[in-house]
Amino acid sequence: MTMRKTPKDFFKPLAIGAPVPYREIPVALERMIHFFPPQMEKMRAKIPDMIGKVDVLLGNLEDAIPADAKEEARAGFITVAEQNEFGATGLWTRVNCLNSPWFLDDVTEIVSKVGNKVDVIMLPKVEGPWDIHYLDQLLAQLEARHQICKPIMIHAILETAQGVNNVEEIAAASPRMHGMSLGPADLAASRGMKTTRVGGGHPSYGVLADDQAEGERRNFYQQDLWHFTVAKMVDACMSYGLKAFYGPFGDFADDAACEAQFRNAFLMGCMGAWSLHPKQIDIAKKVFSPAVDEVLFARKILEAMPDGTGAVMIDGKMQDDATWKQAKVIVDLAKIVAS
Ligand code: GLV
Ligand code: MG
Repeated sequence: MTMRKTPKDFFKPLAIGAPVPYREIPVALERMIHFFPPQMEKMRAKIPDMIGKVDVLLGNLEDAIPADAKEEARAGFITVAEQNEFGATGLWTRVNCLNSPWFLDDVTEIVSKVGNKVDVIMLPKVEGPWDIHYLDQLLAQLEARHQICKPIMIHAILETAQGVNNVEEIAAASPRMHGMSLGPADLAASRGMKTTRVGGGHPSYGVLADDQAEGERRNFYQQDLWHFTVAKMVDACMSYGLKAFYGPFGDFADDAACEAQFRNAFLMGCMGAWSLHPKQIDIAKKVFSPAVDEVLFARKILEAMPDGTGAVMIDGKMQDDATWKQAKVIVDLAKIVAS
């Protein structure tokens, strides 16, 4: 049994003039989840300056943190949480995976020492709802013992073939579920994909156009390796009122490709992406905030159909109840960005 709202709850027929509960609107803006390595003093020193400038700060304890620095990273994260007030910036941590030697201490130490400061725990390599149930119960016990005032949410990384198979059950696993991120690097390994890239396209993945005129080179069209999984993840998340995120983009030298990958995710329904390098903060901010011309056009649609029903033409384009809902998604997001 799930305690989350389903789309059926969101799409009740509306009384004219009633507020529109067509979908729960995310309150917090989470366009970028900015990763920092908490074991590094130099990185910890930058945190006060980033508060208010990034939507989410995440202390990473998992992959990319060397095995012999795991305890230091955990302690560094606790120090960062203790020494700062975060305001509207979310504070998250990515703990080590469930079958690692560090997971239990990561969760118990962090919740017992700074549980009131942490908004979300990101759980890597989630394979099925059982992983979420375990963390859910553990958090409930620790929250009770340490008198944590608000529930700590869970964010799953979708990065194993089994996890992708079970994505819907993972989304439905607990009312603590905040959302999910695609983990393209681990997922590629788990699926046996033949790429060493962290997200993004691959020059050999695409289709060749039909024969051109004699002697002409046939065009090759690169395709998005992650389209299917992002679509599957977005559907699972939206069905249970969660947020979907694109994960990391590892080629820091290719900002244009990063922007293109983030934009595909945005257009398909994602709320944000990870930033692993400071320059990806601005890319995510730009991509995951709706463009001004889109917002203006969406507002025209809402204004033309005040009760959200009927059909009108705007600039030669047909609008109806469905496009009214599409427009509302964009205008609602713009309002959160502006607030
Ligand atoms: C992220 O954790 C990934 O594996 O891509
Ligand atoms: Mg990973």
